[in-house]
Amino acid sequence: IPVDPFDLVIFGGTGDLARRKILPGLFRRFCAGQMPENARVIGAARTEMDRAGYQQMIREAIAEFNGDFEHEKAQLDGFIDRLEYVAIDAKGEDGWAELQKLMAGTERVEAYYFSVSPALFGDLAERLQQWGMADAQSRIVVEKPFGRDLKTAQALNATLAKYFDESQIYRIDHYLGKETVQNLMAVRFGNMLFEPLWNSQYVDHIQITVAETVGVGGRGEYYDKSGAMRDMVQNHLMQLLCLIAMEPPARFDPDAVRDEKLKVIRALDPVLPHHIARGQYQAEPCNEAEQPGYRTAVGDPRSRTESFVALKTHISNWRWAGTPFYLRTGKRMAARSSEITVVFKETPHSIFAEDAGRHRNVLSIRLQPNEGITLGVTIKEPGPGGMRLVDVPLDMTFADALGPEGAEQVDAYERLIMDVIRGNQTLFMRGDEVEAAWAWTDPIIQGWEARNDVPKPYDSGSDGPTDANELMRRDQRQWREYS
Ligand code: BG6
Repeated sequence: IPVDPFDLVIFGGTGDLARRKILPGLFRRFCAGQMPENARVIGAARTEMDRAGYQQMIREAIAEFNGDFEHEKAQLDGFIDRLEYVAIDAKGEDGWAELQKLMAGTERVEAYYFSVSPALFGDLAERLQQWGMADAQSRIVVEKPFGRDLKTAQALNATLAKYFDESQIYRIDHYLGKETVQNLMAVRFGNMLFEPLWNSQYVDHIQITVAETVGVGGRGEYYDKSGAMRDMVQNHLMQLLCLIAMEPPARFDPDAVRDEKLKVIRALDPVLPHHIARGQYQAEPCNEAEQPGYRTAVGDPRSRTESFVALKTHISNWRWAGTPFYLRTGKRMAARSSEITVVFKETPHSIFAEDAGRHRNVLSIRLQPNEGITLGVTIKEPGPGGMRLVDVPLDMTFADALGPEGAEQVDAYERLIMDVIRGNQTLFMRGDEVEAAWAWTDPIIQGWEARNDVPKPYDSGSDGPTDANELMRRDQRQWREYS
């Protein structure tokens, strides 16, 4: 679907996210014919550089970070032609007149992407207003982390609200841009089959796992001040939880969806200390030089920051009272896998002999890799062996079900940036949602700090500390295999 002509200014245009994700993503949209003739992308950053220098930098970034590059190479010059660059000082005056001149007199959608440290959000918003660029048509896109607790998130929201209306603010959570996340809504609200069973009467429990194999890499300085709770749970896992648990919105429109998500967050029970497992990865045995342990990676031998967290929570409302939600995420785990699993209850009574086996329906929603949705259904084991039950998967893996078109994967950032240009906020977090999520995570983190809690070490390449398994075992349940 084509979008209106636009100017997208990327503050932090020379940074890692811009080079790795934003610009390669825009290039793919360009190749897909979605970038209108006169749309422009304007990199803005502190580095002194001219337009040609920036164009060269992005040319190299696209070659490095765009997997389909060979296939699209012929179009690269056309895209590079759309790039402009302004060297700018977010806190001072340098470069602003030049940016204003570039933006003046065009009748286009204007979007400003704040791909910079949150410490600069206020300065950028203020400068945009001073230089007449914060008009009612403009939109701003802000990256996480959106605060580090409720207080700082409230302060950030208040600062942005001085210059922009909520309808102009796009807070990115890239998990919302993932294909399967949206498919989850299609499956829930586009089928008659699931919704009547989507409650504590039929659902035994729900698991959300976001496992990564990478460590903190070069992001140690940021990560050590955050930890898995702030970096992943407060935003990505919380958003997945909302989509799986929310009531059906009346319409698929931004505020209807976000109102329902907010209700879920506000209905979350506080998490009890013995319902959390916290871990920190250790070096990979025999490979310490290349895969150092967490404390070496962040350069603090006494760091108490967690790189893994697993927890159990409940949603206190009519639909979910009594159904536990188990969340876990960690770095340096055995496999990269993000999956939501809905485990249904057993049938109330089995008509078959005891040795026929007893099964539960399990709906798995896989975000990555191999995006898809699978429903485990119980059938008779084929053959003459009498009535024995087995589970078979009803597989809704998109690539298989929808053919080559279904396999065309659009990266989360590509989709979200195009939504900004279209003016669709459905997949962006509203200010009150972010605050409510912090209000739920703050006491957990404060509890750790008050108790001087030390995360349990776990081996790189494992499933996290044994406490995480214990959390499940106590409830006579177990984590799903995720590799
Ligand atoms: C980011 C976190 O938001 O999400 C990273 O800051 C994490 O620590 C990343 O690695 C995971 O994203 P994805 O899309 O690779 O699952």
